[in-house]
Amino acid sequence: MADGRFIVFEGGEGGGKSTQQRLLADRLRGLGREVVVTREPGGSPRAEQIRRLLLAADSGDLDPRCEALLFAAARADHATHVIRPALARGAVVVSDRYLDSSVAYQGVARGLGAERIRELSEWATDGLQPDLTLVLDIDPRVGLARAQDTNRLEAESLAFHDAVRAAFLGFAAADPHRVRVVAADRPVPAVAADVMAAVTAVLGEGGP
Ligand SMILES: Nc1ncnc2c1ncn2[C@@H]1O[C@H](COP(=O)(O)OP(=O)(O)OP(=O)(O)O)[C@@H](O)[C@H]1O
Ligand SMILES: [Mg+2]
Repeated sequence: MADGRFIVFEGGEGGGKSTQQRLLADRLRGLGREVVVTREPGGSPRAEQIRRLLLAADSGDLDPRCEALLFAAARADHATHVIRPALARGAVVVSDRYLDSSVAYQGVARGLGAERIRELSEWATDGLQPDLTLVLDIDPRVGLARAQDTNRLEAESLAFHDAVRAAFLGFAAADPHRVRVVAADRPVPAVAADVMAAVTAVLGEGGP
């Protein structure tokens, strides 16, 4: 049986996370791998219920600490009921967002503290870390124009989105083996090629 691998797409709105996730899943299935495509917030039935609370347009008065705890609570359920079982079967789990999104949005841009929010999520998931995090990096001015669905977080100011972008770039700079930046302001196939190269390297790690 193949070893499970946990791959995460991160980055701001409209960078192409959903697009690249679909393409990567198709490529990996073509190689004969079981792929579990999932997303955050959500990914499990209970966590999807929390997602509806978090993204509802009428939750604009959501307390930032309540928001951070709800994200962590959803992640705990997702990790326990979807991600860990899939990895144990040898699947490749490809998630649209995970822990670094909480650190970038709630910890840095919302100002709750990067360390505190990272620790909260690490506690919530009992330390479940991705094997590879791919940051699809794009100027928010371009990304927000691309993104079709508007939700509560997309309605934040450009300064907020600039802070989110800088946070993701900072994670990659601090830990370049774990977090890889992919320039997302290029044609879809060029982005996909860089994604596949990074993922291929991680699939081979620890192998024969
Ligand atoms: N490299 C690209 N160049 C131009 N357009 C792109 C590219 N990648 C994706 N798009 C288009 O941009 C839009 C947003 O892409 P996608 O939904 O994949 O991004 P996302 O990061 O998942 O966005 P969101 O944060 O809103 O979920 C879609 O219409 C998609 O077809
Ligand atoms: Mg998306």
